[in-house]
Amino acid sequence: MFITLEGPEGSGKSTQIKRLAKRLEAMGYPVVTTREPGGTPIGDQIRHVLMRMENKELQPRTEILLFLAARAQLVEQVIKPALQDGKIILCDRYGDSTLAYQGYGHGLDLDQLREMLDFATDHLKPDVTILLDLDVKTGLMRKKAEDEWNRLDAYEVLFHERVREGYLKLAYEEPERWQIVDASQGIDAVQEDLFQIILDALENNE
Ligand code: TYD
Repeated sequence: MFITLEGPEGSGKSTQIKRLAKRLEAMGYPVVTTREPGGTPIGDQIRHVLMRMENKELQPRTEILLFLAARAQLVEQVIKPALQDGKIILCDRYGDSTLAYQGYGHGLDLDQLREMLDFATDHLKPDVTILLDLDVKTGLMRKKAEDEWNRLDAYEVLFHERVREGYLKLAYEEPERWQIVDASQGIDAVQEDLFQIILDALENNE
């Protein structure tokens, strides 16, 4: 089963994924965790180009091609093989990040992006996508506190507002795939919501 976590900066996806993986493994499920951009040696090199503060001249279209290149590599090298082995894949960001950030955030054409996504992912879509929804200021403050300020975080708050609205639209458009969790709750409460969603999905899958 292919599960993706989506959400704005500071929504706590990576912490939650680590805990989810431990709990599912303790129950005997084989789990693979990964993150975007990156998750493969080639993808991590692409991630480095995307995240460097100095790369301020990176253009939106260049940026999207790099995200897609990293994703194509991840799909072939990690996600498809894990699915074939019957594993649970927990992925920190996937195609919906491109629609939310490059589409709704930067205003690139959504239909065109979807076509490009289909190409990059070989049409592979997640079974379940969970949105960790959080208001923009809280998310940015959390991220700043973590001292992880990078090139992408430097965009203005308005950009992040568009990203959040974009995520919510995507979730409402495809309710059978999406679940929304309130990420402003404490870490433990968010974890319980996520865990329950995944257990339900696994049960329905059997
Ligand atoms: P990262 O430091 O991994 O942040 P987070 O912990 O919030 O996931 O940086 C990922 C950044 O890349 C984040 O700002 C979202 C952005 N991004 C896109 O703009 N498009 C994409 O397709 C992906 C995968 C990420």
